[in-house]
Amino acid sequence: MTASSQLSHPLRSQRLNQITHEPHSHLDNLVKSHDPFASPERFSHFVAAQYLFQRDLEKLYNDPELIKLVPDLPQRCRVQQAVLDLADLQRALPEGDDSIRNKAMGIGEALAWLFVSEGSKLGAAFLLKRMPALGLSETFGARHLGEPEGGRAQGWKAFTAVLDSVELDAEQERLAEAAAIAAFERFTVHLERCFA
Ligand code: HEM
Repeated sequence: MTASSQLSHPLRSQRLNQITHEPHSHLDNLVKSHDPFASPERFSHFVAAQYLFQRDLEKLYNDPELIKLVPDLPQRCRVQQAVLDLADLQRALPEGDDSIRNKAMGIGEALAWLFVSEGSKLGAAFLLKRMPALGLSETFGARHLGEPEGGRAQGWKAFTAVLDSVELDAEQERLAEAAAIAAFERFTVHLERCFA
């Protein structure tokens, strides 16, 4: 068991929440430092980072073994919305790499990457409020921030229920925690690249 597993919450989703608190705050500050709401053009760089992150996870969202656990998993992926948003914003698709797409992952790691992507839908509700000022909405330019079918809260609750119920051994647990941190690092890399 890692120190974080021993010391903290009994629920895995809460433990992942705890250990990603610092990376989340860092990312939040980084997003704000790039002034993404100053114009649609600046916002398009944020969307480009979202696109790269969703592209990283596209195969996981369509993985048959994971779909057995989360039946609506394919519909949760936002890569297509991000592609449409970039077209609306007239920003070229950034070129991705396959390092995450082709990474062999155990169930704990896969769920931890998806935890970060699914969790980002909670923050998306706040970002969406900024969109009218840019002339954007969940049907134009900011589709990937839109309310998921069935609602954000319900979607999150269903996902974390699965995350919390899967049995992992101590090593898988450790890998899952490392994967959640790695997901935030990956988004940070995309963000810096897209705003450069
Ligand atoms: C790549 C992943 C993520 C990105 C890019 C992201 C981005 C953001 C940003 C920019 C905000 C600030 C919105 C505002 O105040 O205007 C925010 C807020 C929020 N995020 Fe995330 N987030 C991510 C992952 C997560 C995860 C994994 C969770 C939950 C486990 C989460 C939960 C929240 C919540 C609840 C808020 C609302 C305000 C708060 O409590 O800080 N986010 N997010």
